[in-house]
Amino acid sequence: MNSLVNSVNPGDPLESSNATAIEMDSDLSTDVDDIYSLIKQDTAVNQLIQKHLRSDVALINQMGGYIINSGGKRLRPVISLLSARAMGYEGAQHVHLATIIEFIHTATLLHDDVVDGSDMRRGNDTANALWGNPASVLVGDFLYSRAFEMMVDVGDMRVLSVLARATNTIAEGEVMQLINCQDPETTEQRYLNVIHCKTAKLFEASAQLGGIISQSNEHSIELLARYGMHLGTAFQLRDDVLDYSSTPEEIGKNIGDDLAEGKPTLPLIYAMRTGTPDQADIIRKAIEQDGKNNIDAVTKAIVATGAITYTNQIAQNEAKLAIEAVDQLPPSKYTDAMKVLANFSVLRNY
Ligand code: IPE
Ligand code: IPE
Ligand code: MG
Ligand code: MG
Repeated sequence: MNSLVNSVNPGDPLESSNATAIEMDSDLSTDVDDIYSLIKQDTAVNQLIQKHLRSDVALINQMGGYIINSGGKRLRPVISLLSARAMGYEGAQHVHLATIIEFIHTATLLHDDVVDGSDMRRGNDTANALWGNPASVLVGDFLYSRAFEMMVDVGDMRVLSVLARATNTIAEGEVMQLINCQDPETTEQRYLNVIHCKTAKLFEASAQLGGIISQSNEHSIELLARYGMHLGTAFQLRDDVLDYSSTPEEIGKNIGDDLAEGKPTLPLIYAMRTGTPDQADIIRKAIEQDGKNNIDAVTKAIVATGAITYTNQIAQNEAKLAIEAVDQLPPSKYTDAMKVLANFSVLRNY
C-alpha cells in the first residue's frame, strides 16, 4: 500500500525538493501519485510520535508501535502542518499538534475496528485480530489520553477546546452510526450527520488548529475549518464508495465490511431510493439481516442505479467547497497543496 509517510528535512514540512513541485503542479489535475510527492511531512512528527508512544507497559509499546508504524496516509497531520504554514506559522507547535491529531485518529481506528469487527487495516491484520478486542479498546484509550496529556503541554486553552470538542463529536458520530446500523430507513441526512461527526470533525479541527496557533484572524480560522469539514466529508463519502468498489490489495482493508455490519452508507441509501422494488428489497434485506451474504447482488444494484456515481458526485461537490474556502486565503504553495489534497480525497483509491 502507498504511504504518505516520507522523510524530509526536519524543521519544515514542505521544504524539500517537492515543495517546488507544488508550485509547478498547481493545476490540480490530481494525479494521485503526484500528491504523494507534494505532501511530504515533517520527520519531526514521526519522531514525536515515537517519543510519545512510549509507556512502561510492554503491551502498549507493542500494540501502539504496531498500529502507528503500519503506515497510514497521515492525512490529518499533513493538513494541520499545511494549514499552519499557509497562515505564515514559523514556530514548532504545529508538529506537536500534528502528533496529537494522529494519536487521536489512531485511537479512533483501534476502537472502530473493534466495533466494525474488521480484521484488516493498512494491509495488515488489525490489532483486534491479533491481540483481541479488550486490548484494542484499552490501547485506544491510552492513545486518546496520551493525546490529551500532550495537549496540556501545548498549554493553549483554545487548542484544548477544539480538540476536546472534536473527540467528543467523533464519539457521538460513532454512537449515532451504531444506532443506524441495520436500519434501512436511515436517510441521507442522518447519514451525512454521522460522517460529519465521526470523520469530518477531526479534519476540521486539524485545519482550524493551524490557523489558531498562527494567531490568524477569525475569518481565516473559519475558512480553514470549512476546508477541513468539506474535505473530511468528501473523504468519508469516497471511503464508503471504496467499501464496494475497491480491493483489499488496493485499499489495505477488507471490502464489504460496511454491509457485513448492516451499515446504511450513501451508496445503499441512494440505490434503495431510486432502484426498482426488487433492487430496493435486496438492499433492505442485506441491511436488516443478510449482511455480506448477498454482496454480489447488492453491489450489482448499487452499480445499476448509479449510486456509486451519485456518491462520487456528492463527494466531488464537497471537495469543490473545500477548495472554494482555501481560495479565499492568501495563495501560497501551501494553499496549493491543500487544494491538491481536497482533490485527492475524492479521487483516491486507497
Ligand atoms: C480511515 O482513515 C478512517 C476513515 C475516516 C475512513 P484513513 O484512510 O485516513 O486511514 P489511514 O490513517 O490512512 O490508515
Ligand atoms: C471511519 O469509518 C471511522 C472513524 C472515523 C473512526 P469507517 O468504519 O468507514 O472507517 P474504515 O473503513 O474502517 O477505515
Ligand atoms: Mg470501520
Ligand atoms: Mg470504511
